[in-house]
Amino acid sequence: MEGRSALSEIEHAAPPPAVAPHAEAYERDIERVLITEAEIQQKLRELGEQIALDYAGRDLLLIGVLKGAFVVMADLARYIRMPVETDFMAVASYGAATKTSGVVRILKDLEHDLEERHVLLVEDIVDSGLTINYLLKNLRGRRPASLEVCALLKKTGIQRVHLDIRYVGFEIPPDFVVGYGLDFAERFRNLPYIATLKPEAYADV
Ligand code: IMP
Repeated sequence: MEGRSALSEIEHAAPPPAVAPHAEAYERDIERVLITEAEIQQKLRELGEQIALDYAGRDLLLIGVLKGAFVVMADLARYIRMPVETDFMAVASYGAATKTSGVVRILKDLEHDLEERHVLLVEDIVDSGLTINYLLKNLRGRRPASLEVCALLKKTGIQRVHLDIRYVGFEIPPDFVVGYGLDFAERFRNLPYIATLKPEAYADV
């Protein structure tokens, strides 16, 4: 069978090198790893188990906030061992800067109707809270049966609005971080951990 021989070719191919020749450039700007890959996965496993318990017997719709949440969404969804549907919204946030503007613009809207749905909004990070605050107001207007938030990271003590976030992975200091979906000038989203950047990394933009 054609398919099988293609697969066995892949299986017998030499594994890719663990460290690509340009790996140095990939991690050169990293100052400190705040949360390791293993810690993130362990936390998401716990959150996924909790979410599956809390939503047992209900139809759950996960909404990821792009771009940042694409990584956490992919892993979290697989730790929720029950049927779920997924949808995504894209909102504009910082661009290349590291301070929130407070202006949230919907670049891509949902494909699902939320009426009578149990909705869990999945975010990478809550910083000022303005993005989530805006999205919650917007989504509440679509009359879901329930609406909760799961954020992998929450910066401590700097939210400019009161927010009730049901599931939080880690509380972190209010420093700018990258990795695991979070970018600086569109870079670093594919790092498997959360880290701070060296000051000189900001100078290049
Ligand atoms: P907020 O509206 O200030 O809560 O910011 C929310 C959005 O800003 C997040 O979804 C991220 O896209 C972005 N953001 C906030 N803090 C950071 C950070 O430390 N690194 C990268 N992006 C961040």
